[in-house]
Amino acid sequence: MQAQSTQSTYNYNVVRQFAIMTVVWGIVGMLVGLFIAAQLIWPELNLAPWLSYGRLRPLHTNAVVFAFGGSALFATSYYVVQRTCHARLFGDRLAAFTFWGWQAVIVLAAVTLPMGYTSSKEYAELEWPIDILITLVWVAYAVVFFGTIIRRKTPHIYVANWFFGAFILTVAVLHIVNSAAIPVSLTKSYSAYAGVQDAMVQWWYGHNAVGFFLTAGFLGMMYYFIPKQAGRPVYSYRLSVVHFWALIFTYMWAGPHHLHYTALPDWAQSIGMLFSLVLLAPSWGGMINGIMTLSGAWHKLRTDPILKFLVVSLSFYGMSTFEGPMMAIKTVNALSHYTDWTVGHVHSGALGWVGMVSIGSLYYLIPRLYGRSEMHSMKLVTLHFWVATIGIVLYIAAMWIAGVMQGLMWRAVNADGTLTYAFVESVKATYPYYAVRLLGGLLYFSGMLIMAWNVFKTVRGQRAVDMPVVAVAQAA
Ligand code: HEM
Ligand code: HEM
Repeated sequence: MQAQSTQSTYNYNVVRQFAIMTVVWGIVGMLVGLFIAAQLIWPELNLAPWLSYGRLRPLHTNAVVFAFGGSALFATSYYVVQRTCHARLFGDRLAAFTFWGWQAVIVLAAVTLPMGYTSSKEYAELEWPIDILITLVWVAYAVVFFGTIIRRKTPHIYVANWFFGAFILTVAVLHIVNSAAIPVSLTKSYSAYAGVQDAMVQWWYGHNAVGFFLTAGFLGMMYYFIPKQAGRPVYSYRLSVVHFWALIFTYMWAGPHHLHYTALPDWAQSIGMLFSLVLLAPSWGGMINGIMTLSGAWHKLRTDPILKFLVVSLSFYGMSTFEGPMMAIKTVNALSHYTDWTVGHVHSGALGWVGMVSIGSLYYLIPRLYGRSEMHSMKLVTLHFWVATIGIVLYIAAMWIAGVMQGLMWRAVNADGTLTYAFVESVKATYPYYAVRLLGGLLYFSGMLIMAWNVFKTVRGQRAVDMPVVAVAQAA
């Protein structure tokens, strides 16, 4: 009875849909990642224009960031806001529109990007008609999310919702400002900005896409799922509030670190560098808050693979938010920029932080959404954890070594002032590292396949004795 009433009190349908699509898009996006990683080793894999590296690379980034990461964010934010507000999601139809609308955006991206239609703005490549659809879906998302907050039955707004809310609002502003363009046909438009202003708007967007799409929303996950899985309250609620305000204030100013040594005025580059260094503090404050939530529950890490995913994601968050500020220092950036070091940094954040926290949250969520006591096989969850972790380490270690090597080779000069290495020599020297990256990617990808099988068996399996839903109802 209680289980049934919990199911009907909350709108779990849309959460289930987004949760399943997270796994599907994760597999698709990472498969494209593997293919482009292989193309860098075997260029003959550029079999046709629509299968060429230049077209598939943005397909990879869009699929993993917006389809995989985005679906995970929709699923978890819709779940968390309902549980912590003790209120059903606002607007069932509107919520359904966000699901189908977002899937339509993804499918349109998967069709248009290989065809070569692109606005050429990184992480915002989609052409203007799709941009308009994104705006509509996003406004609907904001109405559903904040509508639920307004109808909450709890006096306070739990901190996870602050992070989800900031992510939704900021992404709306970023998307609208950066995508402003003048259309010349249905499939082609030109940016509303020119020259260095265009670059600055693009990286104000790009960096805040990291800060709000790839970080703030996932911090919302952290603040809900880590305490739940550890069975402990958040280490410091006060720190979480300081973390929130410091993080959202600081991120906004750091974008110019993507434009060091360009036509952007030097003072603007220095501001970007300074705020990036300051960003270390709130980032680590949040990470410490998450990790310390395990005080008194450390022993659970030995046996609970879901907790392992969540805690290791925080370690990678800490690592990439230490590395980022270092790379933002101009002299360090002079070495790292244009090299695979950046790609290593990106994937320690993407595979380590975004991927692991999403996967851990889904393993918590899926049995509860389908009324099962736990995942079909916890052994497979443990196996997934280890293949994914080893995969990340191989991927990022290979890219770090390759990146530093490339940077050093490019700047090496002989006594007479000529370059020591031709560019192609650095490409040749990178091959072994590309092979190791491919192996790491394969491992991470195979973890996703294990997950898909486990999710399938869990969803198809016997309904447990209503236990999880009741347990969640009591705990929320
Ligand atoms: C099996 C897993 C994955 C593999 C094999 C893979 C592979 C790659 C490759 C080969 C590139 C192009 C690098 C270059 O241009 O030199 C790339 C770029 C990128 N990937 Fe992945 N990737 C994977 C998973 C992910 C995930 C899960 C995310 C995000 C959540 C992600 C986000 C990105 C981003 C943002 C870039 C662009 C980086 C930049 O411009 O510096 N990747 N990936
Ligand atoms: C304190 C936090 C962080 C700072 C200060 C920071 C700083 C930087 C810097 C300096 C670059 C290199 C720019 C260049 O040389 O072109 C970079 C690139 C990047 N970072 Fe971070 N980072 C941080 C955290 C993260 C996290 C947590 C993620 C992912 C979840 C991430 C994703 C990216 C991506 C995708 C790029 C590549 C952008 C591109 O060129 O396409 N960063 N970051």
